[in-house]
Amino acid sequence: MAKLRWFLLTGLFAFLVTAWPVLDPARDGRRVVTYAQEKDWETKKIVPFVPTPQGVVDRMLELAEVKKGDVVYDLGSGDGRIVITAARKYGVRAVGFEIDPDLIKESRENIRKAGLEHLAEIRQQDILTVDLSPATVLTMYLLPSVNMQLRPKVQKELRPGARIVSHAFDMEDWKADRVEQVKDPGGFSRTVYLWRIRDRAPR
Ligand SMILES: C[S@@+](CC[C@H](N)C(=O)[O-])C[C@H]1O[C@@H](n2cnc3c(N)ncnc32)[C@H](O)[C@@H]1O
Repeated sequence: MAKLRWFLLTGLFAFLVTAWPVLDPARDGRRVVTYAQEKDWETKKIVPFVPTPQGVVDRMLELAEVKKGDVVYDLGSGDGRIVITAARKYGVRAVGFEIDPDLIKESRENIRKAGLEHLAEIRQQDILTVDLSPATVLTMYLLPSVNMQLRPKVQKELRPGARIVSHAFDMEDWKADRVEQVKDPGGFSRTVYLWRIRDRAPR
């Protein structure tokens, strides 16, 4: 009898150990959470990655008149080229905000290769949630609807003296301080908009 009990208990133990990964009541929940986290950034990605040609990046930063002491924020920083250019050419602190893990990895690697880790960084964050108040220069290459989603935050959070430079897309009825056409390497014209925050955001 004792032998039978021992046999049954050992059998039950062995069964539970082998079958636990399937029987675990929390397993499905965990899998759903992991799946949701993995997919989370994809649903938040509201603009595809299309890099700004380097010549246009250079002109955007010139138009913003980046100078020592500025803090450049690039919303949706892609491969990090705007952040890297700002740090390398002007020696300023530059922060990129990116949601796509592959681009975050690539851009951090680009910063490391450029030896600019002391000035430039990439934060994994949804651009719609970024506190913009530390930025003195804001760069964007997004979409018209996304510019408009950001506009109230820009208006509320940027301080007087800050500059906003947008590649390709305007801010509807905000009158730009400058609009410039910049030729890309293929000979196509790219539009760059500049707004300056005075005492109030542009209207
Ligand atoms: C058109 S690309 C611009 C890249 C870079 N700023 C440039 O001009 O070369 C837009 C970038 O925004 C990123 N992005 C899209 N939705 C985002 C979000 N919700 N939060 C952060 N980044 C986002 C994309 O992954 C992409 O890299």
